[in-house]
Amino acid sequence: MSQLILGIESSCDETGVALVRAGEGGAVPVLLAHALHSQIDMHQAYGGVVPELASRDHIRRVLPLTREVLRESGEHLEDVDVVAYTRGPGLAGALLVGAGVACALGAALDKPVLGVHHLEGHLLSPFLSSDPPEFPFVALLVSGGHTQLMRVEGVGRYEILGETIDDAAGEAFDKSAKLMGLGYPGGPALSRLAEQGSATAFKLPRPLLHSGDLDFSFAGLKTAVLTQAKKLGDELPARKADLAASTEAAIVEVLVKKTLAALQKTGLKRVVVAGGVGANRHLRAQLNAACAQAKVRVHYPELHLCTDNGAMIAMAAAMRLQAGQQQPNRDYAFDVKPR
Ligand code: KG4
Ligand code: ZN
Repeated sequence: MSQLILGIESSCDETGVALVRAGEGGAVPVLLAHALHSQIDMHQAYGGVVPELASRDHIRRVLPLTREVLRESGEHLEDVDVVAYTRGPGLAGALLVGAGVACALGAALDKPVLGVHHLEGHLLSPFLSSDPPEFPFVALLVSGGHTQLMRVEGVGRYEILGETIDDAAGEAFDKSAKLMGLGYPGGPALSRLAEQGSATAFKLPRPLLHSGDLDFSFAGLKTAVLTQAKKLGDELPARKADLAASTEAAIVEVLVKKTLAALQKTGLKRVVVAGGVGANRHLRAQLNAACAQAKVRVHYPELHLCTDNGAMIAMAAAMRLQAGQQQPNRDYAFDVKPR
């Protein structure tokens, strides 16, 4: 029987656990069960993630979630072949919880462990969908901490084509949302509000849109949103939806145009979007329209697997093992890589 992989994600404010059965030969691994606990409600009062609270909550959640996926899948802990965990990047204390639990389970079961790169988890998360992509493809990775365009030839064969030189796309959403008093995490809230506003109400910059390369910059946009918000003053509450829609349009336009440029540069006809911002409806609509015109296939993770989760970590581990890219080990003296 092919390998059973338990995956644990704890890099930030979601605790995720999942069980994946590696595929035979070239078959895509199968997700058996996954469970998630989001800490958003807990951090909301502070306007952002409080690292120590995050770590403490991961400790509380990780074993109950592990029991939940075992129960749901009907599998037994003793039958797990490899325990995978997020090695980084992320919050050091939060990562240590997942790594510590994974290594303790591995040691107790006498099973090897495997540290997974969080972004590789996001990158490979579309393979969890019912319509998985085929290699090679261009990947647009848009999370709270990263914005990258990549050429992906296969598992572990990634070439960065361009990336942000300052803020990530998710950060641009979150920071702009904060300026508008939309709370944390602001991306989804800003996007919801944007639906009631006009995307052309305010003229906001599209940084590096015509730079000729595939890099991004979002810091200037955030400053422009702040300037606009200050200019509006008392009028801001009444114009908030318009400002939200204009901000979202600026971010999305840059993401879509640069993705098309990456497709043109590589000559590839397939694109994969991954990371939290991949849940953005406006981005999906714009990218779908642009790709339909360019005769390019677009793949997304399922909506609920766009943001952090354990399934993507178990999946990335399974795909790496299957591709012979990495061997699990019994080095239970784990370390984590916050950056
Ligand atoms: O991938 P992720 O869960 O965590 C990181 O690895 O960073 O991404 C979280 C980011 C946050 O910045 C959040 O605001 C953003 O994804 N996000 C969205 C949406 N859903 C999540 N941004 C815009 N629209 C959304 N619907
Ligand atoms: Zn993430």
